[in-house]
Amino acid sequence: MYNKKYVIVGIIVFVALFTTPFWLGGMGGGEYTRPAIELPKGEKECVEPVEYMRAEHMQLLNEWRDEALRNESRVYVSSTGKKWEISLQNTCMKCHNNPKEFCDKCHISNSVYPYCWTCHIQPKESK
Ligand code: HEC
Ligand code: HEC
Ligand code: HEC
Repeated sequence: MYNKKYVIVGIIVFVALFTTPFWLGGMGGGEYTRPAIELPKGEKECVEPVEYMRAEHMQLLNEWRDEALRNESRVYVSSTGKKWEISLQNTCMKCHNNPKEFCDKCHISNSVYPYCWTCHIQPKESK
């Protein structure tokens, strides 16, 4: 007969392996590969604290789109009370003006491929 203890250990190992992608995926913790990316020069801060941006920029962009399209609101008030224009192109990409060395580099190393640039204009590399 099987030993109950081993069966339980087996189940625990199985559950742990099975759920690894979820907790490595960072459940809001932003635990993913972060290659050497090019941060904006001459700017110190993003629209929200950097840890939040690292973990939640996708959700923030979704919110921005919904605000702009459904609620026709083009003003975002950050957690520090600063106002920003809701615009992928005029706000995000104005600072992050080398998306190849920023957005794309990190996405490629994490095998994520957002489809935004088929419609939105991606700035050319600033070399
Ligand atoms: C005013 C300039 C500015 C704007 C506008 C801006 N960013 Fe940032 N962003 C920065 C800076 C500077 C950092 C690095 C901050 C740090 O390291 O403390 C940063 C960091 C980030 C990071 C984290 C990178 C890392 O270090 O892992 C992400 C992701 C990001 N921004 C995405 C966005 C998105 C998406 C938008 C638009 C919603 C946006 N940013 C708008 C300047 C900006
Ligand atoms: C430091 C790494 C990093 C940087 C820099 C970064 N991203 Fe991301 N981004 C990710 C990761 C990782 C995901 C996937 C997260 C997930 O699925 O939970 C992602 C997902 C997204 C998504 C959602 C796509 C999808 O299929 O779910 C969008 C949109 C996005 N990023 C836009 C941007 C834009 C625009 C920039 C540049 C301004 C940027 N990101 C910079 C790491 C990064
Ligand atoms: C099929 C075309 C299409 C695709 C693909 C697309 N968008 Fe958009 N998006 C639009 C249009 C059209 C608007 C409305 C522009 C306006 O009213 O100024 C918009 C508006 C937005 C806005 C708010 C206003 C602005 O100008 O930035 C954000 C933020 C946004 N999209 C983010 C994204 C992100 C992030 C992705 C990729 C995950 C994406 N979009 C993919 C067509 C698209």
